[in-house]
Amino acid sequence: MTDAIDPLFPAHLQHVQALADRALEREGYDGLVVYSGRPGLHFLDDHGPAFKANPHFLHWAPLQEAPDCFVRYLPGRRPQLVFHQPADYWHKPPAVPTAAWTREFDLTVIREPAAARGLLDAGNRRLACIGELPAEFAEWGFSATNPAGLLSYLHYHRAAKTPYELACMRQASRLGAVGHVAAEKAYRAGASEFEVHQAYCSAVGLREQELPYGNIIAFGEGAAVLHYTTLGRRRDVPRPTFLIDAGAQFRGYASDITRTHIADAAGTDPTFLELMAAMEMLQLELCAAVRPGFDYRQIHLLAHRLIAGALVQEGVVSGCTAKQAAENGVSSVFFPHGIGHLLGIQVHDVAGLAADDSGRTEIPRPTGHRYLRLTRRLEPGMVVTIEPGLYFIDLLLDEAQKSGLGRYIAWDVVRRLKPYGGIRIEDDVACSASGTPENLTRDAFAQIV
Ligand code: GLY
Ligand code: MN
Ligand code: MN
Repeated sequence: MTDAIDPLFPAHLQHVQALADRALEREGYDGLVVYSGRPGLHFLDDHGPAFKANPHFLHWAPLQEAPDCFVRYLPGRRPQLVFHQPADYWHKPPAVPTAAWTREFDLTVIREPAAARGLLDAGNRRLACIGELPAEFAEWGFSATNPAGLLSYLHYHRAAKTPYELACMRQASRLGAVGHVAAEKAYRAGASEFEVHQAYCSAVGLREQELPYGNIIAFGEGAAVLHYTTLGRRRDVPRPTFLIDAGAQFRGYASDITRTHIADAAGTDPTFLELMAAMEMLQLELCAAVRPGFDYRQIHLLAHRLIAGALVQEGVVSGCTAKQAAENGVSSVFFPHGIGHLLGIQVHDVAGLAADDSGRTEIPRPTGHRYLRLTRRLEPGMVVTIEPGLYFIDLLLDEAQKSGLGRYIAWDVVRRLKPYGGIRIEDDVACSASGTPENLTRDAFAQIV
């Protein structure tokens, strides 16, 4: 796999450099320093959360576990990688990278962060620095730290992936698919939510801290909690459904995958089975809409119309048409989140609402849809998730009852279906110049069975 991805890195780095060239010129800087970051500590403790590298740093170099490292870039010159390998006998210092991608950098190893100062110095040039800088770097002479205009430019353009990034995301998808298959097997063998989670991590070969987000693994009513990360330890709990939202990471790039399974069709309420089938069909229809130039907000609104259609068709909603249910707020009682988001180095990748690369204007969400994370038109290379959901959430059902929307809800059907919790199906889909979307998730599942 690495053999196929490595040759794509030089062109990726050239693209990253070209973005930096344009951003620096527009914002009036002569060069860029990107700092990887430093692990923090918990309050009053000498231990801290797992280290997470600055995403800008990962855009340049696939070094997820390397604190106090720097990339320095002056337009027209080879980028420089200052790699911190401390002299430390308490922890194992990170190994100096030797992979093929390192050939694109001038690499210098330092033993302590302060040694970077002289290496980063660029005389009278105006250097912009991106990163969460410790106070001790304050006097290092950067002209600006995290200037908004520079960040806005880089964030906006990071949405469209290079072939290298797409290759990394395909691999992250394959890892995720392997984990999902192992997790389903564990569920069917009677494992607890926690044990399913362990089966997932083992199959993917990642520690929890290496996952792109905390696994959501829910049986039955837990599936109605959008971000259910409790991981119950008991096996002897109701488990008519199994919702798993779990991804993986490869070279800093994420996958974000959700599947919903039923324990057995024969023992499942026929209405719930119909809803499962309807969600599968409509999810595929939504994935097909990931085309260049398409307004992502329209995919979100289409999802509401289709989910409303399924709710009316199956008698969960009555007394109004599907179109009315999508407009009067009823569909939002059952589908209360956005249809998806940009995906990349960050799971909810940046600049989803940006109107352009200036950072000055946002594209508004459709009225009443405050959780939608992406409002841009789709461009070739963008990777987005398509994750329609349908849930039975007490809090929202109670609110609907109070607001008057309850008259459209068939409460007897809802009571019957509540033990199933809900349904979410989530794929990662790349927008392609050809017009035919690439479904990274479905391709990954197809490759491993
Ligand atoms: N796993 C978080 C999300 O689907 O957005
Ligand atoms: Mn997602
Ligand atoms: Mn997800």
